[in-house]
Amino acid sequence: MRAKRVVGNWKMHGSLGRNAELLGECARRLGGQDRPVGVEVAVCVPFPYLAQTQAALAGTALAWGAQDVSAHAQGAYTGEVAAPMLAEFGARYVIVGHSERRAWHGETSALVAAKAAAALAAGLTPIVCVGESLEERESGMTETVVGGQLSVCIETLGLDLLARCVVAYEPVWAIGTGRNATPEQAQAVHAFLRRRLGKAGDVVSVLYGGSVKPSNAAALFAMPDVDGGLIGGAALSIEDFEPVCRACA
Ligand code: 13P
Repeated sequence: MRAKRVVGNWKMHGSLGRNAELLGECARRLGGQDRPVGVEVAVCVPFPYLAQTQAALAGTALAWGAQDVSAHAQGAYTGEVAAPMLAEFGARYVIVGHSERRAWHGETSALVAAKAAAALAAGLTPIVCVGESLEERESGMTETVVGGQLSVCIETLGLDLLARCVVAYEPVWAIGTGRNATPEQAQAVHAFLRRRLGKAGDVVSVLYGGSVKPSNAAALFAMPDVDGGLIGGAALSIEDFEPVCRACA
């Protein structure tokens, strides 16, 4: 049984004042009695706001997490944040291998797999992101690229640990561009990824990310292999995030 999930990725946005308002609205509209039934909703916030998020969402139906994690459990790694530290703040999720980190921080699929392993060791659920560029899609390389990114995780973690991960398909050309993959394009890649997951594909949620908004969420989430979404811009406003979460119910 695959869980349905909608996870907000706040990226590098927020302030204490703005977060208080957004988290309060999320708790009230998505975390209480009127919450969307059968959907796990979470927000992945910048590191400094984890304590604030924990305080605001503890006791609600909402989960929270971070957007990156060190591959190391502790040590002389200036500027890094370890998975056990995230766990201390009640985090359930951590995003690993987002295309923005692969592109601008030189993260390889091997490092992403090591980060996923570190997260799992601390009891967190890694959300492993894969996705192709526009150039790769147009040259027919989509399956080669996303399959290659995922296979490093499969080899590193093995199927048992992989079954405890979430996978997110985020075509790079659809992130922050307003241009989402069509439901059919998303479905085709999700079905491919699920086949790649083998037995773990029966339990791993595969989320779609890239310009999900209230107007397209229902059609994307209706696809048989789309188990929910990883939401960027639309997670920053409750007026957008709430209908996106409800579209998954
Ligand atoms: P947008 O929803 O802003 O396109 O971002 C998607 C994303 O990168 C989520 O991780």
